[in-house]
Amino acid sequence: MARASLAMLALFAPSIQAGKTQQVSNWGDNPSKLPAMLVYTPDKLAANPAIVLALHPCGGSGSQYMQMTGLNTFADKLGFIVLYPTSNPEGGMNCWDCFSSKSLTHNGGGDSQSLVGQVTWALKTFPTSDPTKVFAVGGSSGAMVANVLAATYPDVFNAAASYSGVPAGCWAGATMSTPMSTDQSCPHGQKAERFTAQQWGDLARGCDPGYNGTQRTRMMIVHGTSDTAVYISLLGAQLSQWSNVLGLTWAKNVTDDPIKGWKKIVYGDGTQLVGYEVQNGPHIPPFQGESVMKFFGLM
Ligand SMILES: *[C@@H]1O[C@H](CO)[C@@H](O)[C@H](O)[C@H]1NC(C)=O
Ligand SMILES: *[C@@H]1O[C@H](CO)[C@@H](O)[C@H](O)[C@H]1NC(C)=O
Repeated sequence: MARASLAMLALFAPSIQAGKTQQVSNWGDNPSKLPAMLVYTPDKLAANPAIVLALHPCGGSGSQYMQMTGLNTFADKLGFIVLYPTSNPEGGMNCWDCFSSKSLTHNGGGDSQSLVGQVTWALKTFPTSDPTKVFAVGGSSGAMVANVLAATYPDVFNAAASYSGVPAGCWAGATMSTPMSTDQSCPHGQKAERFTAQQWGDLARGCDPGYNGTQRTRMMIVHGTSDTAVYISLLGAQLSQWSNVLGLTWAKNVTDDPIKGWKKIVYGDGTQLVGYEVQNGPHIPPFQGESVMKFFGLM
């Protein structure tokens, strides 16, 4: 009994405390009715903290992705806030919606809008946080929705990191964006083979046609060559999409960067678009926190 009431108290704790992970479910704008997010606030916030939205793979959850990435350690060192949302149980698989026109449209009423609702809540709740330092990172389905967020909200996200994702708009036309979808032409590469960089770019721009800003979300894209869930051709497809959108051309490849077996594929001066092809890498290669932090400009 006593334990139950303590749990109830914790559930309704009104304020966000430093050095803690807390669950928040009433952040405001949430048209797709996402269930909850975990918010991690380090003991020492930076003067103008960044906000990192960390997006789990299918079957995962906020707490699962917190474990998988170890991002809290970086938050402790660098003073940023991490949001770990949990998805709806799409098809019983806990995937993000990367297929519906709602989610693929700026303010379209889908998951992308609900996730931006969480970011907006964080910017309000932590008034010194820096709206020019909002980032998204995700694995698999989380990487796919990170691409969707970059396309639908280029005004919100400074940069995104995609571990084993697909380009924005890749799932359009399917009825789900899960491994159970009958249409796997996106993750299995048939679209990657068919679409040109211009077509991928048009798909991304079409997610927020009214956007007239000069800044676009910078992209870091990681993929394993032995991925059997999301084929390696999706690395090239994402690079095609974002090189077209960002107006960048391939510059060079760097071998064994940041670790042996990883090939860094650099576009332009490397500050706006980089790929990492992981030799014999699996689905969702091991999280390279330092590379992500450096690309975001946090380290
Ligand atoms: C750019 O878009 C914003 C937001 O939709 C709008 O307020 C502004 O008038 C637009 N500017 C131009 C030059 O079209
Ligand atoms: C750079 O790496 C990509 C991806 O593996 C490859 O397709 C391309 O041929 C490489 N370019 C050069 C010049 O090595």
